Amino acid sequence: MTPEQVNLVLDGIERMRPRLPQIADAFYAELFDRHPQLRPMFPADLTRQRIKFADELHTLVVALPDLPAFLASAARLGNRHAGYGVRVAHYNQVRTVLITTIAADMGSTWTAEHEQAWTAAYDMITEAMLLNLR
Ligand code: HEM
Repeated sequence: MTPEQVNLVLDGIERMRPRLPQIADAFYAELFDRHPQLRPMFPADLTRQRIKFADELHTLVVALPDLPAFLASAARLGNRHAGYGVRVAHYNQVRTVLITTIAADMGSTWTAEHEQAWTAAYDMITEAMLLNLR
C-alpha cells in the first residue's frame, strides 16, 4: 500500500466509525444473500458478531501504519479463523461484499482511488491473516 492509500483508508474508517455497526449489518445481509452457504458457519444471532467484526476492522485499519503490531493482531485473528473453518476462497468472497458495502456507505464520495485503497487494505489484512497458515 502507498502512504496515500493508507491515509485514504484511515480517513475513511474514522468517517464511517459512527455507522460501523450498521455497515457490518449491511455487510452480513449482503454476504448471506450472495453466499447463503456461509450462513451456517456463523451464530444464529449476529448481534455480537456485527460489533466484533466492526471493532476488529477498525483496529486492523488503524494498525496499518505500525506493521509489526498489524501483523501480530491479523495473524492471531487468522489463526482463530482457521479454527472456524475459514479457507482462502472464503476471503475472496468476503472481499467483494465488504468493498461493495463500504462503497455504498460512502455514496458519491467513493472514487476509483478509494476502491484501490480499500482493496489493497483488505488484501493486506487477509495476507497477514493467512501468514501462519500456508
Ligand atoms: C477483514 C477480514 C475479517 C475480519 C476483520 C473478521 C473479524 C472477525 C471477528 C472479530 C470475529 C469474532 C471472533 C474472533 O475475534 O475470533 C470473527 C468471527 C468469524 N468470522 Fe471473521 N473476519 C474476517 C474475515 C472472515 C472471512 C473471510 C470469513 C469467511 C466466511 C469469516 C468468517 C467468520 C466466522 C465463521 C466467525 C466465527 C463465528 C462464531 O462461530 O462465533 N471472517 N470474524
